[in-house]
Amino acid sequence: MLFSKIRHIQLLGVRYRSSHYVTTPIFYVNAAPHIGHLYSAVIADAHCRYQRLRYPDTEVRLCTGTDEHGTKIQQAAAAHEVPVGQYCDEISARYREVFKAARIEYDDFIRTTEQRHKLAVSDFWHRLQSRGHIYSAAYSGWYCVSDETFLTDSQLRLDEASGARYSLESGHPVEWTEETNYMFPLSQFQDDVRHWVKQEARIRPAKFEKILLDTLSEPLPDVSISRPANRVHWAIPVPNDETQTVYVWLDALINYLSSLGYPNEQYLAHWPPAQQVIGKDILKFHGIYWPAFLLAAGLEPPRQLHVHSHWTVDGQKMSKSKHNVVDPVEAAKQYTMEGLRYFLLREGVAHSDGNFSHVKALRILNSELADTLGNLLSRACAKSLNPQQMYPEAHVEHLSQLLQHLDAGKRLQEALFHLAGRCEQHYEGNHFHLVADTAIAALHAANNFFECAKPWELKAGGSSPNAQRLQTIIAMTMDALRLCGIVLQPMMPQLTSRLLDKLNVPIAQRSWRHLGESFATATSGNGPESHQLDEHSSALLFQRIVEQQDKPREQRAQSAAQSKRSKSKRERKTSATMS
Ligand code: MSP
Repeated sequence: MLFSKIRHIQLLGVRYRSSHYVTTPIFYVNAAPHIGHLYSAVIADAHCRYQRLRYPDTEVRLCTGTDEHGTKIQQAAAAHEVPVGQYCDEISARYREVFKAARIEYDDFIRTTEQRHKLAVSDFWHRLQSRGHIYSAAYSGWYCVSDETFLTDSQLRLDEASGARYSLESGHPVEWTEETNYMFPLSQFQDDVRHWVKQEARIRPAKFEKILLDTLSEPLPDVSISRPANRVHWAIPVPNDETQTVYVWLDALINYLSSLGYPNEQYLAHWPPAQQVIGKDILKFHGIYWPAFLLAAGLEPPRQLHVHSHWTVDGQKMSKSKHNVVDPVEAAKQYTMEGLRYFLLREGVAHSDGNFSHVKALRILNSELADTLGNLLSRACAKSLNPQQMYPEAHVEHLSQLLQHLDAGKRLQEALFHLAGRCEQHYEGNHFHLVADTAIAALHAANNFFECAKPWELKAGGSSPNAQRLQTIIAMTMDALRLCGIVLQPMMPQLTSRLLDKLNVPIAQRSWRHLGESFATATSGNGPESHQLDEHSSALLFQRIVEQQDKPREQRAQSAAQSKRSKSKRERKTSATMS
């Protein structure tokens, strides 16, 4: 039954198969963005960049935005004594700024306070209602404002001493609430949702599929989809009933449709989402409520949910009360935004929580970006070895000699030969840490090759065999840098663009299919023609990060004064915007 329904809906979308629609969750505007939020966006962005690189004929679309309604936002604005609309504008703008700095290449940034979204919510409500999936009932239960959800007794923890109850999962307090609301008959869709969840590769990683199936194995209570307007006034009114406002999660989930122009039929050009990126804390909403709402409305549910785990900081959950929230803008001052992107994708794995530690970030960025990638580029571009500043062509006899008689040459060829295939496989599963592993291993092989080939013992210039051997070593090293640069573009768009600019690789030759063009795929040399490096681009890709205590005393005093100045400037700016 479900699948004949979906099949029918799918047929409508056949001619639009060339679209790949990806979404991030929309972010609450109760507080400024932190690295956890950025992580959701960076995963989605890297995924989309890979899709564009690998499937240039597919239209990839990325949507992100801010979730601006509900009690939580009402309370945050009141606490800052700012009108709620102004408060939303301010925090939403901060998300845009951070995403711009982090090069999140979105096609749309949607805000739930926009008119186009309100129209979509109203239409969706009518759709549910006209299909008989909304009823009114007296409802009572424990509501968690912070998580914006009602919780059942089994989802609560009772603090014996104070008598207060808390959400077991998030730890946030709950309050007893009795009201008459509109309800959604979730139980009627439980079997359909279970069926949807069980489809191959629907929920990734598999661990989260299991969590959903466990939840779905128990009877699920119906969901309250409205709140009394006198309690939650900062919300979208229920159509034709101004005493009620739409439940924030129903409102928020519909953003994925309103971004596409729903209810205008044009939304079908991209629907359903190919992949929705979400954190593990919002799995129930996206893995149960969302497909149920969509099926009830007669729309196809998403093809895949990619669920990621969370970042802790020095082993602790990030929270304002612990004063350990990592602000991406601050972190980028130390690591650069590209460094931060790389660290999040390189160190984070979807199935378990990652720990953000300064020591680890420093170690990874210095060893991989500065010493392995950056250093190799500087060496290959050094004037002493490369006085004419060329990306030379390999000479056939020297190439076959280096590949046959130098183990390090063979190992480099082997690493580059497998680079595209392995990285493709890892990108397809959003395993960014494995992409980094593979590329860094190839760069280690290239560094090792460079060391073993000893180019500094050969004399540059002219057409002597020595000079030709030297050119061949540089050509092979630059091929390695070029291929790794292409592969790492989705993870570090700006740093790799500087690398490929320096190597003077035309934009049209930076796509996935160009990974097949290098000395590693044909012994006759199959890389780009010999050409000049770009003299306007720097060969310094990533400056080693030096710890405060390692800097000379004078420099330390300077940077302390600098950070004091920028801190007070920031504080002045924040109090000006918040007051
Ligand atoms: N507004 C809802 C989502 C509605 S989508 C229709 C929401 N917003 S949020 O701002 O709280 O979270 C947005 C995203 O940030 C979620 O994917 C969440 O998992 C992620 N993160 C929040 N804290 C995080 C960490 N500490 N670590 C990693 N990601 C984290 O939920």
